[in-house]
Amino acid sequence: MLDIFKTNKSRKNKEQIVLDKENIPKHIAIIMDGNGRWAKQRNLPRTMGHKAGVETIRKVIKESNKLGIKYLTLYAFSTENWKRPNDEVSALMKLLVEYLKNELEELNKNQVVINILGDIDKLPSDAQREIKKAIVTTKDNIGISLNIAFNYGGRDEILRAVNLVLEEVKKGNINEDSISEDIFEKYLYTYNIPDPDLIIRPSGEQRISNFLLWQCAYSEFWYSNVCWPDFKEEHLHKAIYDYQHRDRRYGGV
Ligand code: FPP
Repeated sequence: MLDIFKTNKSRKNKEQIVLDKENIPKHIAIIMDGNGRWAKQRNLPRTMGHKAGVETIRKVIKESNKLGIKYLTLYAFSTENWKRPNDEVSALMKLLVEYLKNELEELNKNQVVINILGDIDKLPSDAQREIKKAIVTTKDNIGISLNIAFNYGGRDEILRAVNLVLEEVKKGNINEDSISEDIFEKYLYTYNIPDPDLIIRPSGEQRISNFLLWQCAYSEFWYSNVCWPDFKEEHLHKAIYDYQHRDRRYGGV
């Protein structure tokens, strides 16, 4: 057992959350939502909300590592986010570049493996460069895998995989009668990454928003009303605690 204490708002009564060390989710995926609303509540531009969201990313990676989570996937930019105003899209690209530039050394020191889920060919060249550098630098690390979903869409990923499989069929490398889930999964961005056990969405929204559509088949969902910049270690603990009290049956009894 892992003793984690949660302090309530008044800081008078302590509610103890005890996490079962043997049942820590292997893979947690997070839809980092609510940055815009967080900024609006403070009369700040939306981009300040995203900037504040990066601080939460730092905390969550550190805590996830401490808890023994093996894979952490963060939804940072969807294939639909290109519809946002140009200045917001540019700010998000810039935040990714700055994040990788500023954090790579520390992440590497902490043995973090960085992966990107999504179509990086459509990103600005500096973003592509930093992504490639981060992947190469951290590829032999043995710690937590940090998957940043960037220019990622679940439907896009599935269609891409279908087309890649078709190409292999045409080349004669795959027999069209033998396409199984195992074969298909090799063509997803998440090849070699286990499906998420737990998907967290803060900010009060309760939808999947084109995130890990194939992979979420048996994921447990956890929602919270706090906006992502206000998401703290205690929310992560509570999400894991609730997860540990669910009965996962995978369609069985
Ligand atoms: C959703 O909130 C959040 C995003 C679309 C971007 C999330 C990105 C970051 C936290 C930082 C950039 C990423 C990295 C890896 C450095 P929203 O803007 O839709 O919020 P709203 O629903 O309140 O408007």
